[in-house]
This record gives sequence, C-alpha cells and structure tokens, in this order.
Amino acid sequence: MLILGIESSCDETAASIVKDGSEVRSSVIASQAALHAKTGGVVPEVAAREHVGNILPVITQALSEAKISFAEVDAIAVASGPGLASSLLAGVITANTLATFLDKPLIPVNHIYGHIRANWLERDSAEFNYPILTLTASGGHNELVLLHSDGSIELIGESTDDAAGEAFDKVARLIGLGYPGGPAIEKTAKLAKVKDSLEFLLPRAWLLPKDISRNFDSREVGERLRNNKLTLTNFDFSFSGLKSEVRRRVVAQKRLTAGFKANLAYGFQEAVIDILATKTYLAAEKFSAQEIHLAGGVSANSALRERIQTYADKLQIPFRCPMKFQYCTDNAAMIAAAGFAMHQKNPKQFAKLRYAEMNPNLPLV
Ligand code: KG4
Ligand code: ZN
Repeated sequence: MLILGIESSCDETAASIVKDGSEVRSSVIASQAALHAKTGGVVPEVAAREHVGNILPVITQALSEAKISFAEVDAIAVASGPGLASSLLAGVITANTLATFLDKPLIPVNHIYGHIRANWLERDSAEFNYPILTLTASGGHNELVLLHSDGSIELIGESTDDAAGEAFDKVARLIGLGYPGGPAIEKTAKLAKVKDSLEFLLPRAWLLPKDISRNFDSREVGERLRNNKLTLTNFDFSFSGLKSEVRRRVVAQKRLTAGFKANLAYGFQEAVIDILATKTYLAAEKFSAQEIHLAGGVSANSALRERIQTYADKLQIPFRCPMKFQYCTDNAAMIAAAGFAMHQKNPKQFAKLRYAEMNPNLPLV
C-alpha cells in the first residue's frame, strides 16, 4: 500500500511516499530552521505563511522522487494534531482537498504517534517483540508509552510542563547558542572541562515525595532508584525547574565565557539525560518491556542514545532509534508509517473518510 504522508505541525513542511509502513520511496522536508534562527524560536504566523508557500512544491517533489503519480497513491495520511494550529492548517486543508478531488481515503494521524512509528521505517517489524516501551522526546511533547501487540497504547508518563526539546531550546537561548537548541547544546557540552564537578551538578526533578528524596543530592537519587533502593511510581517529566536553575546561574554570572557555557551546557544535558534514561529504564523494568524505542527530535542526541543503550544492555533487551537522523525530527515518512498502521488495524474506518478536522489537542490514544 502506497501512502502519501503530509506533515506541517510546527516549522517543517514535509511530504513522503512510504510503501507498507516501512519502505521509504521519498521523504522531502522543507525546513524553516534558518528563518526561525533569526528570532531565536518559531513565530507561528511566520511559520504558517512558509507552510502555505511550501506545501504544494514539497508534495509534488515527493511524488516525483518516488516516481509515482497521484493516481497511484492508495491513501493520504496527514498530521492533524497536536501542533501549532496555524501550521497544522496548511497540511490538513491540503490533505482534505487532495482526498476529496482524488477520491482517496484520508487518515488523520496524531503527530506523536507518527514519531513512535518512525522506528518502523526501513525496518522489518516482524522482528519486534512486545510490549515495546517508547520514549518520545521532542520540542512540543515528551511521553513514555507502552505499545502492545494488539496495537493498543498505554500512556505511562508525560511532561507536566516543558518538554525535553523545549528545555534544550530555551536553555540554548539563555546561554546564547541559537536555534534549534538541541544540536547546539550537544556540540557545546562536548567542550566541557569539568565533567565530574559538583559545581555544575544541576537539579533533577524525579517527582518523588520530598520526604523521601531530601537526604540525597539529585544525582544520588537517580542511582538509588536504579539500584532499587528507592521506588519510582511517577513516570511523568518536569524540566521547568532545571531551566529556571540555568537562568539563575546565567544571571549570577558576570561574563558568559566559552568555558562557563560549555560546563553549563554539559550539566544541563546530563540532568535531562539522567531523568529521561533512568525513567525509561525503570519503566521498562516495571512493565517487563521486551524492547526500548527512542523517538522525536531529542532522539538525535548521541549522549542520550548511549545512556539508554547501557540500560537496555543491562535488561538484555533491544534498543532501537530511528534508522536515519532525518526520521528523528519532524518528517512526513513517520506520518505515512503511522497512517499505514492505523489503516491496517481498521480499514473500514478510513475507506470513506475524505475530510479531517485539524485538532491541536488531539489525544494520543
Ligand atoms: O520532533 P521535533 O522535530 O519537533 C517536535 O515535534 O517538537 O523535535 C524538535 C526538538 C527541538 O526542541 C530540538 O532542539 C530537539 O528536538 N533536538 C535535539 C537534538 N536535535 C534536535 N535535542 C537534543 N539533542 C539533539 N541532538
Ligand atoms: Zn515532532
């Protein structure tokens, strides 16, 4: 089955042709990163205008690179939420129009489910073992979900404030590293000189009751959790306190030297990774996951990948990340892959669907 995927939820306009949910025939992404770097973040109105200009050329290019015509497309999958309403509109309106005029089934896809399915791209999923624990870490969302073999999804934890990628972006802005922040922080952190120093040990919000955790520093709490000396029951994430601590340190510093920036970037990245990886590890153990998957923009971070790999090795289960870096950040191949899975589960639901509502708050399941 050939699916045309369309994605426009934030600042990437993307279209892709994917066969049977895994074979990527084309994946075209028009990134607006350079444009938004000027303002240090995405301005919704600016992003929306860019989508309108890019959407049709991107779709045309995806078809031409896959060497197929509109007539050969079996269904259209579109990210219809969550995301920026004004950005989502371009993709959703285009998909509705194409589905109507071409008379093709339309599959509205949750963007986060798209990230989850990015791990199916260019892989033989017959090898997968369930349940799979997926950590999605992006600019706009951060979840731990358990995927069962019948296609059902259980939400184990989610962000209570800033998502991990959002924290990377905001901290990069605070220390003057530009947009997007994730890759900039990762690069700068590699230059840190004082990797074991307590000076740049930043707080981790484990979301444990205060009376349990107050006797230890936040890094030691992580160690105790991993050694089963403390028990974690809350798998949600919170990064706003960590971001505030970075701001406090930046304000207290008279001059932001390159050395200070590198140490602070390292301390921040370590805190984020400690929380993401440890919570993933403990959830995989608690729910007897047979695989760990990592998805979303932050899954491009190699230090995070290395840490989760260590824990997956400890549990003796496979650990998978998207096969290409372009499948970590927003893309349309993942939307086509998710659309295929949804269609396979319930083809009748989409057979006559030609119109989908844009919904910035579309629930994951
Ligand atoms: O999945 P994505 O493209 O968009 C959303 O769905 O939000 O994720 C973008 C996020 C940005 O916040 C960006 O800073 C982060 O992913 N990111 C990274 C890295 N590359 C991108 N974060 C940490 N390390 C990276 N190497
Ligand atoms: Zn995304």
